[in-house]
Amino acid sequence: MAEHAPYPVGLRLAGRRVVVLGAGQVAQRRLPALIAAGADVLLVSPSATPSVEAMAEAGELRWERRRYRDGDLDGAWYALITTDDPAANAAASAEAEARRVWAVRSDDASAASAWTPATGRSEGVTVAVLTGSDPRRSAALRDTIVEGLRDGSLAAPHHRPRHKGVALVGGGPGDPDLITVRGRRLLAEADVVIADRLGPRDLLDELPPHVEVVDAAKIPYGRFMAQEAINNALIEHAKAGKAVVRLKGGDPFVFGRGMEEVQALAEHGIPCTVVPGISSSISVPAAAGIPVTHRGVAHEFTVVSGHVAPDDPRSLVDWEALARLQGTLVLLMSVENIGRIAATLIRHGRTADTPVAVVQEGTTAAQRRVDATLATVGESVKAEGIRPPAVIVIGEVVRYPAP
Ligand SMILES: C[S@@+](CC[C@H](N)C(=O)[O-])C[C@H]1O[C@@H](n2cnc3c(N)ncnc32)[C@H](O)[C@@H]1O
Repeated sequence: MAEHAPYPVGLRLAGRRVVVLGAGQVAQRRLPALIAAGADVLLVSPSATPSVEAMAEAGELRWERRRYRDGDLDGAWYALITTDDPAANAAASAEAEARRVWAVRSDDASAASAWTPATGRSEGVTVAVLTGSDPRRSAALRDTIVEGLRDGSLAAPHHRPRHKGVALVGGGPGDPDLITVRGRRLLAEADVVIADRLGPRDLLDELPPHVEVVDAAKIPYGRFMAQEAINNALIEHAKAGKAVVRLKGGDPFVFGRGMEEVQALAEHGIPCTVVPGISSSISVPAAAGIPVTHRGVAHEFTVVSGHVAPDDPRSLVDWEALARLQGTLVLLMSVENIGRIAATLIRHGRTADTPVAVVQEGTTAAQRRVDATLATVGESVKAEGIRPPAVIVIGEVVRYPAP
């Protein structure tokens, strides 16, 4: 008999009985999608992997701890036959056939009435690929399509689901690979990108020529504050119906003035999506090999802005309290004031030989690290010509892994 191509279909399983026989690796991989589809899953298996057990404990499926027996498919709309007993699989297949229940089989696809496609999802689109007898090819095709949808390279230009208003995107610390998938997709869909000096600047070169890229540092602001001028530019472009991305370094809400922009947009009734980003406060130490916590060494880390000196009346930081902490201090915007900050920490009790690492331009090709102690860091930063942006890490974690 000639091999017919399978007929693709999307099953709407919510509230419908799906019987899963066997609870090994195959079932473990398929169950989350069945649960996400709202299926009423009955699992029949004498044992299960720890992950499947956890699903049962969480009430996501009903688990009967026993072997398959005839009649298990009663009331089922769909079945997954994955036991390690070929005879049981064959019997279950026969029962499925007799009851006209579509069934997939992990041990013998040719004996099954249904095949599972390689599936993936991105922003409301379900991708399902069937190549017949080549699951690796299916998976590779699926990955290519999903990846293309996620990074925007596969969006049909005239049918792109455009975001409305402004997307406030955290771009991560600088390495273009450290932006989120959602951030990258929104960037690919933008008409206008208003970008900061920090963040993944390399991604801007990849944008198509029709995209207007605005350097936030260069927006003329006349009698306005720079931030107000940026807010106005966002509002203006959004009101003109453009898809606007406000690309920021790190995370928009970590010393990023993100909320000021959200509020300004809200005052004009402009919708704003916030896309979190990987903050430099964690990623820059990590890129330099420094864990901000380490078991038995630091049970806390505190992220502080040092852009105003400790003795400045505008400072909102309780440096005295920070000096008493034993954990890790991560300082942003502190290059200029690090000498005075270190002296203040020592004066209030932090030991002078506490290790300190200064990481400049972390995650970029220009990354460099200078090691010092609280006693020496002020001088080291000057002697080494450290310039912003830099993250300064203070605490015993700086020694891990041992240099
Ligand atoms: C205005 S704050 C913005 C922080 C950002 N929102 C975040 O979550 O990373 C700017 C400071 O972040 C730090 N920073 C950002 N990117 C950095 C990088 N690639 N390397 C070192 N420090 C960085 C520096 O301390 C810099 O002065």
